[in-house]
Amino acid sequence: MANILLLCSLKYKRMKIIQSVSGLADALQVFRGEGRTIGFVPTMGALHEGHAALVKQCVSENDRCVVSIFVNPTQFNNADDLHHYPRTPEQDQALLESIGADIVFAPTVEEMYPEPDRRVFHFGLLDTVMEGQYRPGHFNGVAQVVSKLLTIVEPDRAYFGEKDFQQLAIVREMVQQLQLPVEIVGVPIVREASGLALSSRNQRLSEEQKKSAAEIYRILRESTLLAGESTPQHITDFVIGEINKVPGLLVEYFEIVDGHSLQLISSWQHSGYIVGCIAVYCGDVRLIDNIRYK
Ligand code: PAF
Repeated sequence: MANILLLCSLKYKRMKIIQSVSGLADALQVFRGEGRTIGFVPTMGALHEGHAALVKQCVSENDRCVVSIFVNPTQFNNADDLHHYPRTPEQDQALLESIGADIVFAPTVEEMYPEPDRRVFHFGLLDTVMEGQYRPGHFNGVAQVVSKLLTIVEPDRAYFGEKDFQQLAIVREMVQQLQLPVEIVGVPIVREASGLALSSRNQRLSEEQKKSAAEIYRILRESTLLAGESTPQHITDFVIGEINKVPGLLVEYFEIVDGHSLQLISSWQHSGYIVGCIAVYCGDVRLIDNIRYK
């Protein structure tokens, strides 16, 4: 029994919390010296089971797993959204320790941005649509922070959730443009039993709002069953119309796009990879989700 307790405490004491870039570099140098592969999960904290799925996959596919927790100001185009973004550092650390992360990198804004980051990325049509259209500057901020983090950590693999479908496409494009030697791994969406996609923003929903929000995925699923008999435009109208009928929900956009180019498709024959992407306001909480048609 004493041995088991000792083993448990050793396991849970293993995780390091590091705030400085130089401290992280020292710890990573030790791993590299030992020939370990390094996996990386960037997050903004307020972790939930969706993040846990990324970290678990990272732990299982790499010798060492680094998780960053950093609420990146440059990707918020709305000061109120940044201000309200949930922050739960103690819970996050306990979760990460229990699922086997090795290092939590939790820098301050000054540590990440000693100088303002003035880089402007160009992603062609990838960031002019959907989130790019409604959150101008958002993906430039994501590219700034993710490129910095990937350059600091230099992981073999980095893990991103498929819930942020457009973000994943942008990160893949950025890694190609900058020729960063990292494999980008997309991890499927994790949902509550109700179907609601897990998101840190769900913490801001009341029980009543959660019930309404669960209708988003139910309607998206129903739309995949109707897709064979209707055009993409009809399915788009159906999804927007049905979701807007649910009390408290208001669709910002729903677009059926080619999964690679993210451009609208007008026929199901257009591509072999077709995804519907949606943003919906539930009260003042903005939720995103997506569903694959093909
Ligand atoms: O998806 C997120 O949580 C953020 O956009 C990311 C990738 C951690 C960059 O800040």
